[in-house]
Amino acid sequence: MNKYIEDFPALNQEFNGHRFVYLDNAATTQKPVSVINAIDDYYRKNNANPHRGAYALSVKATELYEGAREVVRDFIGAEKSKEIVFVRNATEALNLIAFSYGLTFLNPGDEIVISIAEHHSNLVPWQQVAKAKGAELKYLYLNEEGIIPKEEIESKITSNTKIVSVTQVSNVLGTINPVKEIIEKAHSVGAIAIVDMAQSVPHMKVDVTSLDADFAVFSGHKMLAPMGIGVLYGKEALLEKMPPFLCGGDMIEYVWEQKTTFAEVPQKFEAGTQNVGGAVGLTEAIKYINKVGIETIEAIEKELTSYALEKLSEIPHITIYGTKDAAKKAGVISFNIDDVHPHDVATILDSYGIGIRTGHHCANPLMRYMQVNATCRASFYFYNTKEDIDDLANGLKNVRKWLGYGS
Ligand code: ALA
Repeated sequence: MNKYIEDFPALNQEFNGHRFVYLDNAATTQKPVSVINAIDDYYRKNNANPHRGAYALSVKATELYEGAREVVRDFIGAEKSKEIVFVRNATEALNLIAFSYGLTFLNPGDEIVISIAEHHSNLVPWQQVAKAKGAELKYLYLNEEGIIPKEEIESKITSNTKIVSVTQVSNVLGTINPVKEIIEKAHSVGAIAIVDMAQSVPHMKVDVTSLDADFAVFSGHKMLAPMGIGVLYGKEALLEKMPPFLCGGDMIEYVWEQKTTFAEVPQKFEAGTQNVGGAVGLTEAIKYINKVGIETIEAIEKELTSYALEKLSEIPHITIYGTKDAAKKAGVISFNIDDVHPHDVATILDSYGIGIRTGHHCANPLMRYMQVNATCRASFYFYNTKEDIDDLANGLKNVRKWLGYGS
């Protein structure tokens, strides 16, 4: 047991006669009671439409919403709270950048550079924008450890590059990319740099100012907050010159029959009624993470990852993808078992109460690059334990036996 588990009701249940072992944290994390209560409290006592009302409750909702912006600013080291735009999730944030900045500022022949390890949300929007603008989409490929090597950064980011958009941590391999070097290289050729932090912000200290990222994105639901609230960080000067992405209420200054002037940032990018309950949940989630300490979270996960790599490596017929060095990874391990489809692995583990993810993990090009159709993925958070990993390893040892193989 670890001391955090009792704060997470979803972890304290059984499936198929076994205690629940939740190892799909890269997909979404479970929520602590403090976050659940904060959302409940918001809807019981503080719910009103923000920015619109002249009455006390609407002012309260506005304060909670704008207060959340300040909490997020502080958490990721942004300079100004107006540089924090609330969106639904990292996917929406990346679409916003692609379809606002990309469609406006790219020209035919310009190059967009991403990595082969991108989640579809940092890939498909760029394909669409490249097609619309006659730009070229180029890829940084990975070394045998699953990390973007220096040579790729040096050779692919050139004077033709206008946008570089990479993930800090691969959602499939857990590998940590050298985003500071990538950002520096992008800036040296006059390109902007976007970092997908969906898999990093929940697990390690991130400071967008010291990284000098132009944009950064992440989702609340992967860091203890509810689904439906996410963050776009953007440098004020860039947000200022971008056109709106979604149009409607709350993002305007004045509207005439044939034209509109827009609100200041960040409101220019927050059309319609905002997700105040989600922002309240995110505030409470960040408070919980700060209470545990992001360095403590990182240390727990490094230890779990190192232990899991050791345990899984001992199992015959298992292939682990990417580096086996826990120092170079966040808590994500992708693997396959010889002759067994990942979905069969997951089904057998489920019978022991263990939840992992299988499939292409929204990263088809990476699967093709690794020459696999799918993988099994176990991903950890600070509430996981070595006992969880022992259960995973024991379950995996039985997989081939269940299917009738001798060993
Ligand atoms: N992006 C999420 C994952 O990697 C859904 O599982």
